[in-house]
Amino acid sequence: MTQNALLSTVKIKNRVLPNRLAVGAMECDDGDSEGNPSASTYARYQKYFEGGAGFISLEAITCQRKSMSSINQLSILPENAKALESFVKTLKAVNPDNVFVFQLTHSGEVSHPALSSPVRVTKEPLYGFEHARFIDEDEFAVIMDEWVEAAKIAHAVGADGVDLKFAGGYLGSQVLRPFNKHDWKYGGAWENRRRFAFDLTERVTQAVNDPDFLVGSKISVYEGFPGGQGSAGPDTALMDLSESIDLVKGLEERGMSFIIESAGAPWHTEPLSKPDKAVSFGAYEHFYFQKVLRDALKPETLVIGTGNSLFRDGTHTAFTAVAPEKNSLQFWGDKNIREGIVDIVSLGRQSLADPAVAKKLAENHAEEINWCIGCDNCTVFLREQTPGGCAVYDRTFTEKLKEIKARKKA
Ligand SMILES: Cc1cc2nc3c(=O)[nH]c(=O)nc-3n(C[C@H](O)[C@H](O)[C@H](O)COP(=O)(O)O)c2cc1C
Ligand code: SF4
Repeated sequence: MTQNALLSTVKIKNRVLPNRLAVGAMECDDGDSEGNPSASTYARYQKYFEGGAGFISLEAITCQRKSMSSINQLSILPENAKALESFVKTLKAVNPDNVFVFQLTHSGEVSHPALSSPVRVTKEPLYGFEHARFIDEDEFAVIMDEWVEAAKIAHAVGADGVDLKFAGGYLGSQVLRPFNKHDWKYGGAWENRRRFAFDLTERVTQAVNDPDFLVGSKISVYEGFPGGQGSAGPDTALMDLSESIDLVKGLEERGMSFIIESAGAPWHTEPLSKPDKAVSFGAYEHFYFQKVLRDALKPETLVIGTGNSLFRDGTHTAFTAVAPEKNSLQFWGDKNIREGIVDIVSLGRQSLADPAVAKKLAENHAEEINWCIGCDNCTVFLREQTPGGCAVYDRTFTEKLKEIKARKKA
């Protein structure tokens, strides 16, 4: 029997990944008070590195500490460099074969109002975000500088690359989406909005100045609300993917070597960003978005697809109309890679549930995998602004969830 394509190698720039499984960016709000990795962060990533996935994303790491969505979020400022360097060194000693990229982010209007300062780039606020302070071009220029500095730090501390986050409803999305409709340097016409992503990519590439350093981006192909990324205009929800397609082509031209497909925004359209039991068909929609990107890009630019955690061993009851053996992670991963829909299959929640999926598949022990049940209890911790993890397979978090629920009931 030929090997499952998930376990085949793949080239990314000058590196060869041992398999086509990725650990997706999964913020668990467990940094220390300075935004450095804590003992819990170390433990989590050590397991990911032992688990053997070819590509590992460091969760959203903030390039400044004024506007953040999570209280214990990791940060990447000059004062974090030493701690990040030790972190990368420790992890690379666990496993030097995979690539480790940092997801650089700014939360913009979705920054938590109680713990930081939400800022917005749109004169007209997005509904529900009226409290965010409107910033001008000069203030935005400082944010761009911070992003570039953060990329330089990521390179200096030994990361293999950066993922410039243009997804999830965070600042990158807020600039790119059609709702950013008033005319300013990076607003109004698509040519202006896309210039933000293109300028940032060019500046990062030049500042790092290392042809082996990977630059890529997680983008939301369609955010799923009027004026969101992938909609036809600022006041329509009609899907029109021409801007998303043009975006990734322009990013590729400027040197990006991977694009992480995503959809939705957890703040507004959560089940689109991570398909849940009630909308399991969302997992199939992600295949479509991946194919759109794959068709737009050159073969050497890798498409990494998200939204796969419900597939498990094919037995999730959320799916009907398909036999389990034709609906598993292994089935779809193999088929989609062979058919040119996606290059790498990313696991978000599934990596929290079991960080060793790649290793267990490679060793032919699929029956030992702890399959994610898609309960989404891991997000409760993020909402509660407290360190989190899988509430089903990690007893610490099962107990912690019980306490949170009991406290809320009281
Ligand atoms: C607890 C939690 C934290 C997350 N943190 C991030 C993050 O830091 N950056 C990001 O791009 N996506 C984040 N996501 C989204 C995942 O990376 C992924 O795109 C999504 O969960 C869908 O993939 P899945 O079905 O494999 O879970 C998070 C999701 C969850 C549930
Ligand atoms: S808490 Fe639930 S959704 Fe989250 S990783 Fe664990 S099983 Fe999956």
